[in-house]
This record gives sequence, structure tokens and C-alpha cells, in this order.
Amino acid sequence: MTRNKVIPVPDGRPHIVPSVLSADFACLKKSLRGLERSAAWVQLDVMDGHFVPNLSFGPHVAESFRAATPLALDAHLMVERPDLFIGSFAAAGAGLITVHEEAHTDIGACLKKIRALGLKAGLALRPKTPLSRALKYLKRLDLLLLMTVEPGFGGQAFMRGLLPKIAAARLAIARAGRPIWLQVDGGINEVTAPQAVRAGADSLVMGSAVFSKTDPAGFIRRLTKILQRG
Ligand code: DX5
Repeated sequence: MTRNKVIPVPDGRPHIVPSVLSADFACLKKSLRGLERSAAWVQLDVMDGHFVPNLSFGPHVAESFRAATPLALDAHLMVERPDLFIGSFAAAGAGLITVHEEAHTDIGACLKKIRALGLKAGLALRPKTPLSRALKYLKRLDLLLLMTVEPGFGGQAFMRGLLPKIAAARLAIARAGRPIWLQVDGGINEVTAPQAVRAGADSLVMGSAVFSKTDPAGFIRRLTKILQRG
């Protein structure tokens, strides 16, 4: 079995990460076909029906995603107890696991466990959670995810009021002096992506904006070029 790619190190340029929630689960391979020529990696939206009012899928489906694309997988655990799932998503092929700071578990221990398994570690904040709650973890992160919608559903509107939070996070990452992706997720499309990039984001998660297109790979390629031109 070919190994999936690894999550790249930030290169100072914005990259697009399609999230699968809006993909056609009836034909994963077709949905993800060709994305490897333009997307940075793929995000799996994992939801438990408690942390967010929606239920998506577990590690078994993640294995199917791994088989459907050569791209690296980022498992965004929108779950109350991410500590219970780190091992199984690592075994399913995730290259990066993101846990929510608001989850009901020891976040430091989760980040340590993710790294100990050889994966990259991400921390996510809901829109209302202040950036200050993430700062003490920065030295242990490969990715900081700022939700720009209330997590749980695709197709919501980008919360423009969060642009200052994105800018503050970019400054905090610069001060940390480490290569940490600044990822935004929720309502990102061809209109809001440039705004998020100007504020400092370099990893743009897109669900409905990508999978609503007849040519998702071409859309990602064209928008990436525009965003990287600045
Ligand atoms: C929302 C999910 C997002 C969602 C993004 O809770 O975590 O990743 O799939 O979908 P869009 O891009 O449609 O807002």
C-alpha cells in the first residue's frame, strides 16, 4: 500500500485544505480525485454529536479516506474526549491530529500523545474562545486552527469579526519563532479566503466552496495561484 504523503512544513505561502464533510461519501475516490495536484492535504471533520450538534464518522471511515487519496490526512477531532481517539486515528493513517482546547480532557497530555505517535499536533479554538487560551501550548504545536464558524456544519457564513483574532494569532506565532500553520476553517471561499490570508492565515480549510464546484481540483489550483500571488 502506498504511504500517504506527510503534512508539509509551512512555507510562508497560503495553501488550501479541502475538508470532506461536503464531499460525496458515496464515491470517495471520485470526490478526491485530482486533489493531490493542488491541495496541501485533506481534512477529516470528525464529530461526536456531543462537542458539536452533529455526528460524522470514526477511524474506520478515515481508513477509507486514506485509501481514496495519496494526500496527507488531518483529523480535526470535534469531540468531547479526543484522548479516546488519538490512537485509532493515528492507526487509521492521520498525519496530523487537531484537538479542541475546549474538550473535556488534558490538552497537554493529548498533544504529547499525538507527538509521541510521530504525528503532527494541532490545537483548535471555537470562535468565542480567546486566543490567550492557546498561547501556553504554542511551543508544542505544528498547527493552530481558528474556527471561523461555530463547528458542526458546512455551508455556514464566515465570521468576519474574527479577522483581528487571526491577525493576533499570526503575531503570536511569529513571536513563538516556530513553523506553525495558522489554519482557518468555516465559510472560507474565493471571497473570504483573501481576507483571511491578508489577516495572516496560511492554511485555508474549505468544504462546500470546493465540493460544490464541478472541478474541485481546478478550483483549488486557480484560487491557490491567486492567493499566493498576494
Ligand atoms: C465545520 C467543519 C468545517 C466545515 C467547513 O464544523 O469543521 O471544516 O467542513 O465547511 P465550509 O467550508 O462549507 O464552511
